[in-house]
Order: sequence, then C-alpha cells, then structure tokens
Amino acid sequence: MAFPPEFIDELNRVTSISRILGKFVTWDSKKTKAAKGDYWACCPFHQEKTPSFHATESRGTYYCFSCHEKGNAFTFLQKSRGMSFTDAVRFLAAEASLPLPELTGKEKEQAEKVNYLIKIHEIAANHYQEQLYLKSGKPALDYLDSRGLKPSIIEEFGIGYAPNNLEIIKILNLAGFSQDQIVEAGLAKPRDNGNGIYTTFRDRIMFPIQDSRARIIAFGGRAMDPDTPAKYLNSPNTSIFNKGVVLYNLHNASSSVNDDNPLVVVEGYMDVIALHQAGFIASVAPLGTAVTPEHLTQLLRLSQQPILAMDGDEAGIRAAKRIVDLVLPLLEPGKTVRFCTLPDGLDPDDLIRKKGISGMKDCLNKSMELNDFIWTSETVGKRFDTLNSKTVLREILNGKISLIKHFVVRNIYKEDFNNRYWKNFVQTAPKGKGKKLFEASEQSKQVKESLNKTGKLNKSSDLFLMEATLISLCLHHPDIIESEIGNLESYDFETEELNGIRSELLRETESKASSSNGFLNILKEGEYSQEIQELLDIGEINILPEIADQNALTEARVLFQEILYWLQILQEEKNLKQELTRTPELEDKGKLLSKQLKDATLKRESIESNILDQDTATSQNGIGEQLDDTVRLEGIIASALTTDNSTFQDGNTHKPSEKTPPSDDDNVVVMDNSHRVSKEDYDELMNLVNK
Ligand code: UTP
Ligand code: MN
Repeated sequence: MAFPPEFIDELNRVTSISRILGKFVTWDSKKTKAAKGDYWACCPFHQEKTPSFHATESRGTYYCFSCHEKGNAFTFLQKSRGMSFTDAVRFLAAEASLPLPELTGKEKEQAEKVNYLIKIHEIAANHYQEQLYLKSGKPALDYLDSRGLKPSIIEEFGIGYAPNNLEIIKILNLAGFSQDQIVEAGLAKPRDNGNGIYTTFRDRIMFPIQDSRARIIAFGGRAMDPDTPAKYLNSPNTSIFNKGVVLYNLHNASSSVNDDNPLVVVEGYMDVIALHQAGFIASVAPLGTAVTPEHLTQLLRLSQQPILAMDGDEAGIRAAKRIVDLVLPLLEPGKTVRFCTLPDGLDPDDLIRKKGISGMKDCLNKSMELNDFIWTSETVGKRFDTLNSKTVLREILNGKISLIKHFVVRNIYKEDFNNRYWKNFVQTAPKGKGKKLFEASEQSKQVKESLNKTGKLNKSSDLFLMEATLISLCLHHPDIIESEIGNLESYDFETEELNGIRSELLRETESKASSSNGFLNILKEGEYSQEIQELLDIGEINILPEIADQNALTEARVLFQEILYWLQILQEEKNLKQELTRTPELEDKGKLLSKQLKDATLKRESIESNILDQDTATSQNGIGEQLDDTVRLEGIIASALTTDNSTFQDGNTHKPSEKTPPSDDDNVVVMDNSHRVSKEDYDELMNLVNK
C-alpha cells in the first residue's frame, strides 16, 4: 500500500524513537542521558556485552558504533522484527494513535482482493487438514509417519491432504466465492474444453505456505506416488504469492532467530520441518525456485549471518555458487552469509535421520564464512602449478571482489584474498616442505573482527583503516589539507578510491571552497560520493575524539602527521624489502639495506606505541608486527615477490609473518647478526637473485 509522503513525514515527526526501540531493547541506565535525548543499549543486531547501540531522540535515528547498523524507527522494525514497510507504518501509526490515511478506490479494490484470497486459503487449509485424518487420508498420514514426522509437528505446520475430487470447489462456492476467484487463488484451473474448473492439487500432501504475518497465501503439495510427474507442486504466482520473494516458514523463523537459533536456509519444505522437529526452529526454504536477491535481502535483515545449507549434491553446490554472486553486492560491515556443506549428497532431512541432531549441529557449526567458502570452492581440488592457473584464480577472485558494493567490505575481502594467496602460493613456495595448502586463514577472521570493535584506533592490522583515517581527518578538518598539501600529494594510497578522494580534496582546496560544511557537501556530490559516505560511516574512525570533536583541529593535525609518518615509513620499509631481494651483492649492500630496514622498522614501532594500542601494535599478524631479530629473510623475499603482482595486490602491502624463527642449528646461513635463513632458503634466495 502506498502512503502519501506527508503522512510518513507526520508519522516520523510524532514517533519517539526511544519509546519504540525501548520496546525491543533495554536502554543502558548508566550511559543513557535521557534529558539530552541520548540513548544507549546493547545492540540488537549483533551480540555484545557493552552498549554501542546509540539512538538520538531529536533526529529519530539510531546507529551502532560496533556493527554499523543504522536507520530510523521504520528501518528498525523492518530489520529487527522482519516487518514489511507497510506493517512498520501500521505499527507506528497505531503506537502514535495516528489514523491511517483513506485508501484510494484502486487501493481499496486491491485490499479487498487480498482479503478474499486469504479467506479462500484459510477455508482450503482447514478442509485439507480435516481430510488428512479421515479414512481417505490414511495413506497420506502413514506416509508422513514413515518420514518420521510426529503428530504434533504435522499439526503445528498445518499439514493436510488434498483428495482426488472436486469437493474444495463446492465448499468454496458455498462460502460465496466464484469460480473465477478460486482460479485467481490458484486452487483451481479452467478445463481445456471450457467446461468449468478442476482442482490444482489432487491426491497430494498439502503444506500451507504463510507470509511474514502468518497468513496462508499459497500451498505446496507433495505427491506420494513416485510415478507422479511433479513430486512437488506449488500454487502458481498470484497477487498474494510471489515465489521469488516468499520463504517457507519465515513467519516462525523471524520470531525465533537469535544467537542460539541461527537462521538456516534449506532447499525444501520437508527439510524445514525436519529441522524444526530436531530443534532448529529458525529454518526457511525458498519455494521451488532458486534463492533470489529478494530472498537474500530479507534473510540479511533478520540475521547478521544466515546459514545456507544447500543439499550436498552437485545441484546444491551449483546453487551455493550462484548465491555467492547474488549476495556479494548486498554485504555490509557485520552482514554476511555462511555456507554449510552437507555431506555425501544428503539433504538436511536425510542428515538428521542418518546422523541425528548432533550430526546436523556439527555440520552447522562447521559452516564456512562467505570469504572462506569462495576461497575454498575456487581452490580445493584444483592444481595451481602453472602461472596460467594462478592467473585464472586471480581473475576469478578479482571478479568476486568487484561485485562487492560496500567500499569497506570490498577492501577487507581484497586483503583477505591477498593474504590467502600469499600464504598458499608464496609463503609456501619452496616446494617439498610438506606444508599443507589451503588451511583456513586465521587472518580473515581477525581482519573481519577489526570491523566489529570500538574504542581507540587499534587497527594496526589494517592498513586500509589507517589510510581511511587520514582521509577522514581531512574531511572533518579541511584546514589540515592546506598545511599538508605536499605530504598528501606525494603519498601513494593503497586503494584507487582513496587516491581519488585525495585528488578531489586537493582540487577543492585549491578552488577554495569556503566553509568546512560547504566543502564536505561539494565532495559528497562528487565522483566519490558513495565512498565518502561509507568512509564517514566507519565506526572505529568516527569514535576518535580527533574526528568527533569539531574543535579538535590541533589534535587532529597531530594525529594526521603521526599516521602519515607511520604510513610513509611503512612504504619505505616495503621499498627496502623489495630492493633487498633485487640486489645481487647480498653480502655488502644487503647488509646495508637490512640495517636501513631495521631502522625504519624501529621508527615505525616507536610511532605505533604512541598512536596505537600496544596489544594490537605487536600482534603477530599485521603490519604492526615487530620486525625485530626474528624477521626472516625468506619472508621479506616472499613479500617483495607478491608486491610485484600489483594488479592483485592493490589494497595490500602487509603480509602475515612466519611465526617460527629459524632454528639455531647447522642448517642456517647467517646473513648478518639479525638475519639468519636456512640453507635451503638461502639457495632458493640465490636462485632468485641470480635470475
Ligand atoms: P527435492 O527434490 O530436493 O525434494 O526438492 P526434498 O525437499 O528432498 O523432498 P523429499 O524429501 O523428497 O520429500 C527441493 C524443493 O524443490 C521444490 C520443492 O519446493 C522442494 O521442497 N520442488 C522439487 C518442486 O517444486 N517440484 C519438484 O518436482 C521437486
Ligand atoms: Mn529430502
């Protein structure tokens, strides 16, 4: 139903966001300043122990500093309660005692049609349900029993039986519905000879399909006779049933999904029901169609991480791969999907019967996050022993990355794939070491987590966030740009977008856009408007006092200089590493370069201790890792090697380090006091530099 914009505006105006959201979250009494209209709670969109979910009464908006969910009362009801926009409007109007606007003639007609179509389905569902318990329904009931469904579950899902006769048409006629209306509902079809109508569902077990408000809008029918051409038959699309949008059991799942009950998407109704019976109560299935973007949008509204459990056969795997391409454009920070790969061609129903509840649980627990799934499905079982095969893999991964619309998520995926590529093809390059290819990467989890934390800038593992902070400081304090023009011009950002935003910043500063607000507005309308918006939305950056406080220009300038200096040294380190592998006179020049590198590293670390959390600054995975005596030359070489692969590598300079320092035995070559490599690696190195 279309509401006039004035009505929505009015509704927005009279709605109190703290009161509406307060029905679903508990405001934190310590942090909340009700008098100022400042409300804090633990975020309902992700799991957390300290409140980072914030609502502003005056603006009627909310924002989670941790998972970045944001919106107003309408979006809250849609996203966290699974309501449609229309339902959210009705809900808020009722709360505000605001009468709904009068319907137009056409809207009235449509509303009436919806009403009678739903009434028809209600009557039919009752009839089918009754039939199941009659003598003629006995085979159907026995069949359900043979499939392991308990009577209470059969009842709960309203399962029925459509006999092979025309009774339902008579019943509906008696209730006042015309033949046309019954056909319109999809329960009957006109006969080819034009003589009346016949029923769509005959001798089938009937599954009522409900919409998000639990209204029956269609049926699915399963044949028991294996010779029946269509095993399952669904109602045709009608004005209340759209197969590409509706998900079976969504109304139940939306109210039961939580941390203990993950949202699970399976291929068929029987799977949903079997899962429900086994205690997995937040399960849904599409209705005879492949998963569509509309399905995915709804799923991601209901859950931060819906699990897709496609059948473990070839078709299921193909379906999962198709879903990857559909879901990548929908990703946002904190929102992703997981893939559960069912074993041996089983579907969830089979798996539960064969391996029990625990078997299913194990399988769900092992589900892979999207990035993992993409990597695994593109690499496992394939050989990458030629340059060409690796190039093809890169092309595929680059293609996936480019599908991600969200700038921040895109860069995180880029880094993750870079790291995996590095770990699997470069770090393990010396052959015959018996190192396992394709281990799940810890790195990806850490990078992901970096998006879900608030607090001090503790992003030593995330070069992208540091560069984004630099740009963000300029956006919030344009005065910085003027005094830092030279530095800004010469620094080479890792991502194209940040380089582009930098150029716009410099251009606009030159043309002297007056006030800082005007400046930001001009940029927001420019070529990088989307990226700038996304950058301004990064919680970890927003929360920095230098950014949040308009008046903190001096502090902002200091932070800018510190970060830039740090980034510059990082680039210097990278260049030195590259040079170190290229120089042929390892003994002399190599020593000098190593020394310079060590100096640069020490310098960088001392800055890190100023601007970063110590904990993360010394984490062993990131660019902040301590490159002290334990630095291994082979790591440096490998790192420089990947850096040469610039198409794939943009967005990444840092490489995970080897964790184990070289052993202190005879089998090492001492390069200088701080750099020791194994003989094997030394030979490899000499080979490389002599090429
Ligand atoms: P499956 O063939 O995987 O069936 O179809 P299933 O779910 O395992 O069903 P059982 O266990 O044999 O009873 C999965 C889904 O595909 C649609 C249905 O929605 C079904 O639930 N389908 C399948 C059809 O629409 N028509 C068909 O003929 C077959
Ligand atoms: Mn099955």
